[in-house]
Amino acid sequence: DEDELHARIAAAKETLGDRVIVMGHFYQRDEVVQHADYVGDSFQLATAAKEHGRAEAIVFCGVHFMAETADLLSGADQAVILPNLAAGCSMADMADIDQVEECWEQLADVLGPLDVPDADGRVPVIPVTYMNSSAAIKGFVGRHGGIVCTSSNARTVLEWAFARGRRVLFFPDQHLGRNTAKGMGVALEQMPMWNPRRPLGGNDADALVNSQVILWHGFCSVHRRFTVDQIDQARAEHPGVRVIVHPECPMEVVDAADEAGSTDYIRKAIAAATEPTTFAVGTEINLVRRLAAQYPQHEIFCLDPVVCPCSTMYRIHPGYLAWVLEELVAGRTPNRITVPADVADPARLALERMLAARP
Ligand code: 13P
Ligand code: SF4
Repeated sequence: DEDELHARIAAAKETLGDRVIVMGHFYQRDEVVQHADYVGDSFQLATAAKEHGRAEAIVFCGVHFMAETADLLSGADQAVILPNLAAGCSMADMADIDQVEECWEQLADVLGPLDVPDADGRVPVIPVTYMNSSAAIKGFVGRHGGIVCTSSNARTVLEWAFARGRRVLFFPDQHLGRNTAKGMGVALEQMPMWNPRRPLGGNDADALVNSQVILWHGFCSVHRRFTVDQIDQARAEHPGVRVIVHPECPMEVVDAADEAGSTDYIRKAIAAATEPTTFAVGTEINLVRRLAAQYPQHEIFCLDPVVCPCSTMYRIHPGYLAWVLEELVAGRTPNRITVPADVADPARLALERMLAARP
């Protein structure tokens, strides 16, 4: 039962001491988060993986692409462990490396050689991938002069990319790409969406030539559920409500909200409110519920009345956490995530560019 699992996790952690560090994303359930030595959004967890050099193992309570990122940024002999290998991300799966390679080739057919700078020193296209993508995709981006972004630095990263390229190919999340570019003043007609089912010729060549940001067709199945109707209803029922949503939400939802930002932005905005405030939040339910419990002086609720957990984040059950920790105690290293060297080097380059990008 839950108490027994809690005790097993605590006992194994006690035995392992500094040899292991447990990291957890904000979307993890409370029974997992309470055992995490470090909790954060995907940017903070990537930074933490780079900086926590001492531990032999990082037990990563999040999803597969985050564990891969931790492996890329942590020390060479640190093992990164994902308690349940089935914890993936449906959005990350929407950018398949073969499809991206094909898209890149077809863009070159329309726009000319993509790695050759023009007179002003900028290449025709810089690829930018959201953190929520496989290491293979990050490697692709690294090999083609591109960069990774997260929801907390997407604008800074797009500015970095526009200093080096005339256009950006942004994947996998169309919404983060569209919302961020729109916030920078890019017109919607300059953001065509790449259509993988209509290869060369089917995608409008003029639209690609005149584009600023070419969007991929991916989305987050959790955040795309939020609607403008939900916001209208929250405003009708709670006059004065502050509506904050994640930028993975559709554009109309971000436009109708008062603010949009990463999970850490949402957390900090609520922490900074000095007056009792009503917040309607458009993001994953575990984070929203935790914030509601943490800040009882405010009224905090999820915009979606039907609960919306991220089903893959939820696959990190405390039972798996107990199991991997006990295996470590026994000297075994289960569920290790290792990015192969040929992918790791360019992927790390793309991540390091992100960590170095400044506003
Ligand atoms: P952030 O952690 O960057 O807010 O991203 C949210 C998310 O969907 C993670 O999968
Ligand atoms: Fe992927 Fe969305 Fe879940 Fe994040 S919340 S892991 S983007 S499905």
